[in-house]
Amino acid sequence: MLRFLTAGESHGPSLTAILEGFPSGLAIDFDKLDKELKARQGGYGRNSRQKIESDKVTFTGGIRGGVTTGGPICMHIENKDFANWQEVMALEGKINTPKEKEVDCFRPGHADLAGTIKYGHKDIRDVIERASARETAARVAVGAICQQFLNVLDINLVAHVIQVGNVKAPSQADCDNLIEVCARANESEISCADQSKSEEMIELIKKTWSEGDSLGGAIEILVDNLPVGLGSYVHWDRRIDGQLAQALMSVHAIKAMEIGDGIEASQKPGSQVHDAINPAKTENLPFTRPTNRAGGVEGGMTNGSRLVIRAFMKPIPTLVKGLNSVSFPDFKAKKARYERSDVCAISACAVVAKNMIAYILAKALLEKFGQDSMKQLLSVYKKRNLSDA
Ligand SMILES: Cc1cc2nc3c(=O)[nH]c(=O)nc-3n(C[C@H](O)[C@H](O)[C@H](O)COP(=O)(O)O)c2cc1C
Repeated sequence: MLRFLTAGESHGPSLTAILEGFPSGLAIDFDKLDKELKARQGGYGRNSRQKIESDKVTFTGGIRGGVTTGGPICMHIENKDFANWQEVMALEGKINTPKEKEVDCFRPGHADLAGTIKYGHKDIRDVIERASARETAARVAVGAICQQFLNVLDINLVAHVIQVGNVKAPSQADCDNLIEVCARANESEISCADQSKSEEMIELIKKTWSEGDSLGGAIEILVDNLPVGLGSYVHWDRRIDGQLAQALMSVHAIKAMEIGDGIEASQKPGSQVHDAINPAKTENLPFTRPTNRAGGVEGGMTNGSRLVIRAFMKPIPTLVKGLNSVSFPDFKAKKARYERSDVCAISACAVVAKNMIAYILAKALLEKFGQDSMKQLLSVYKKRNLSDA
């Protein structure tokens, strides 16, 4: 079974990810992997830390000669900013926190309050360091390997921004060519495939920034060429929609997701929602679907249509104009303190979400076609009979 763990704090020495259950024989494109990490650091509205850090993966296990061995893949990403935090984040010995780095107040919208009470911490920093979305760099490293695995099976994923605050760009779910969607999104500083909406989004971020406020938004993830039958209807935790939702909802600040017409479908009669099945054969499948409102999932399984997922991110909770809060440990009224923060991180969120989806799809593929080596897997995968009952 494919699984992964991450470890490390936001201002600690490094982040670590261990990906276990990955087949042997996949040649890793290291530049491509680092590009994915760079994409997570980009996007209009990010904070200055992204200029200090230039994330790069160092492998310490599971790869030899650039090829996966079948052993656990261990990856490290150095936190370059650790140089400025060594005394505050000392792993051994005495911690020495200068006044300007003390955290004496809970930030609303963060893990600070519940986390400090839950773990009985004396210092809120013990929560914020691990709860920080910096951890998503390690997830992207894992997902980037999974994406390379999917690409070998001709499965490609695209993520693009469809909303910033109240500025909405059109869905690209019906666009024939995903490569073209990807190219348009890559041209935009906010990863939006619609140029004029992209400009509007950037203007809104600028305005919100000047007002000391923050923004959230929405992203769309599209995946083509998935086989029928990833996931299963036979048990709740094997449903692919449930697994995709768990993966996305685990990403910091994502508060909702939908598959296909999702929320809109709940407001329409069934005849306008469900996708008919026609007998005409295609190159890959013994049937066609005139529409794909289900977004590629029926009964907890992929159905051969394009996977269409949208995820919704709340506005960044750290605000220049701090909200009312309470101090710690005395719980007296105090304005939440501002610490370097993004104004809008929707482009970065798109990269993280795409990589979490890549992980879930790689896991499901290995469950269905699972073999120990890429060679075995490819021979089984290519021979699969699409119309087998
Ligand atoms: C890529 C990414 C970057 C983020 N950057 C920030 C940030 O700079 N400042 C901040 O307050 N929150 C940021 N967030 C959101 C917080 O991490 C998140 O809201 C917080 O951990 C609380 O978790 P929750 O919103 O899921 O409850 C970011 C989230 C993501 C996915």
